Amino acid sequence: MPTADKGRFWNDKILGWEDSRYGVPDISNGLVERIAGGVSSSLRFRLTAAVRLLAPHVRGRRVVEVGCGSGYLAAPLIEAGAIAYQGFDIAPNAIDRARRLLGGLGGDARPVRFDVAAVTDLHDQGDAMLVSLGLFDWLTDDEISHLFAIGRSGPYLHALSERRLSAQQLVHRLYVHVAYGRRTGLRPRYQSVAEIDALLAATGRPPAGVFRHPRLRFGIFVSDLPLPPL
Ligand SMILES: C[S@@+](CC[C@H](N)C(=O)[O-])C[C@H]1O[C@@H](n2cnc3c(N)ncnc32)[C@H](O)[C@@H]1O
Repeated sequence: MPTADKGRFWNDKILGWEDSRYGVPDISNGLVERIAGGVSSSLRFRLTAAVRLLAPHVRGRRVVEVGCGSGYLAAPLIEAGAIAYQGFDIAPNAIDRARRLLGGLGGDARPVRFDVAAVTDLHDQGDAMLVSLGLFDWLTDDEISHLFAIGRSGPYLHALSERRLSAQQLVHRLYVHVAYGRRTGLRPRYQSVAEIDALLAATGRPPAGVFRHPRLRFGIFVSDLPLPPL
């Protein structure tokens, strides 16, 4: 599927997706999305867990979040001491909302910026900390390798869906099929840690540390940061 098509898919979907997952009511969302919103406590947990895992490590660092959506991580990470936050997303609707909501955050001293970009548009990010939540589920192996390569001089934390034989994952696959998979042909990936480690190895990096938690369901964090239990 060409990147432009994925961009259109996410541009149409992202604001309703965020509102149903993170609790901003939107009566224009259909029934399936509202059901999904009701069972999305794992995604709300993922967001707060990311803040708690990252907060001890962001002081004095630039953070780059790819697939940032409307930038929900920006304010807590600046508050935790990040010296700058840069969010990138393929969906202009998300970037517009992020700019509207968070444009003035951080002032000149700790700049917060949002820009439309696909993963493959991005170049070396220096020693910035590279972060993503739910992005890997939508990337090809080449795109994930590209992210590991452009972030190789800094730490990383990425949240993704781990492939499992579980009832929860089966329900998720069914939801995806009914809600948009059969209509668009687009479906998220579920990956194994071994697959992620192979991509890391190809960019000369050691295997990932892995963080699991029952409230994440089949979501996991992979990172080279020390990840204490929550
Ligand atoms: C599941 S949403 C997660 C949004 C946000 N990180 C969160 O957790 O609330 C995935 C995000 O990745 C973005 N995305 C998907 N493919 C992308 C790509 N190739 N390059 C940049 N962003 C992409 C989508 O537009 C969307 O905002």
